[in-house]
Amino acid sequence: MFMKISAKTKICLIIGDPVSHSMSPAMHNAGYEALGIDDRFVFLGAKVKAQDVGVAVECMRKMGIHGLTCTIPHKVEVMKFLDEIDETAKKIGAVNTVLNKNGKLIGFNTDWQGTVIPLEKIISLSGKKVLVLGAGGAARAIVFGLLKKGAKVKIFNRTKEKAVKLAQEFNCQVTSLSIKSEIRDFDIIINTTSVGMKPLEKETPISTKFITNKQIVFDIVYVPFETKLLKEAKKRGARIIHGTEMLLHQGTTQFEIYTGHKAPEEVMRKILYEKN
Ligand code: ATR
Repeated sequence: MFMKISAKTKICLIIGDPVSHSMSPAMHNAGYEALGIDDRFVFLGAKVKAQDVGVAVECMRKMGIHGLTCTIPHKVEVMKFLDEIDETAKKIGAVNTVLNKNGKLIGFNTDWQGTVIPLEKIISLSGKKVLVLGAGGAARAIVFGLLKKGAKVKIFNRTKEKAVKLAQEFNCQVTSLSIKSEIRDFDIIINTTSVGMKPLEKETPISTKFITNKQIVFDIVYVPFETKLLKEAKKRGARIIHGTEMLLHQGTTQFEIYTGHKAPEEVMRKILYEKN
C-alpha cells in the first residue's frame, strides 16, 4: 500500500503516551486500502508527552496535518489549543478527534458512539435501564451517549462522591448497590472502570451472581479480549459485548470525520480481531 503515498497524501496521526500499542493506525490504514483511498490518506502514530500536546497541535496547524486522534493523556488538555469544539465534545468535556478543516482545527468526541452503536445493533436504548460502573472520563462519554438515546441511567462508583457529581451534571441517578439483587433489574450493565483489565484480570467490578439471561453486559476493557465479567455473564446466559467493539466504533465514526467516506466496518473489525 505504501507505494501509493505521495506528497499529496493527507496525514492522520494518533498522539498519546504510550502510543506504540495503539491499533488505530492498522485499523484506519486497512480502511483506506479497502476503499482505494490509500493514496489520499495515511494514518501514523506519535508518542507525545502530556506537557507537549500544545506543541503537537501547533505542528498540526503549521504542517497541515489532516487529523489528530488523541488518546491518554491528551483528551482534555488538547481542547485548549483548538479553534472550535463541537457541542457534544464540549458536553462530554473531552476530545478524541481533531479535524483540520482548511486550517481550522475542530474537536470532536466519538467515544460515545463507541458504546451506543454496538448496543443499538441489538436493542433500542430508549427507555432501557442501564447500570454504568465507574465515573471517570470514559463514563462521561458513555453516560452522555446513553442519555442522548433516551436510556435511564444509574451510576455506580467505588468513590460515591464522583458518581454523585457526574449524575448531577448529566441529570441521572446514582446507586450504591447496597442491595446486590438490584443488579437484576437492569437491562444493560456497562463496565467503564479498569477492573478486569491486566493486572486486575482476576477481578470483576460487581458481583456477577445476579446477572441474568435477559441482560446485556458490555465491558469497555479490551485487554484481555474477554474479561472475567464478560466470561461470567456469558455463563449466566447474558448477551455480551466485548470492549473491542467500542474501539472499533469510536474508530469507524472517526474514519468518517477524517475521510468523508462510510467506514468499511468489517475490514476494520477484522484487523482488531486478528490480534485475539
Ligand atoms: P477513564 O478515563 O479510563 O475513565 P479515570 O477517569 O481515571 O479513567 O476513571 C477510572 C474509573 O475506574 C473511576 O470510576 C474509578 O473509580 P474511583 O472514582 O473510585 O477512583 C474506577 N476504578 C479504577 N480502579 C478501580 C478499582 N480497583 N476498583 C473500583 N473502581 C476502580
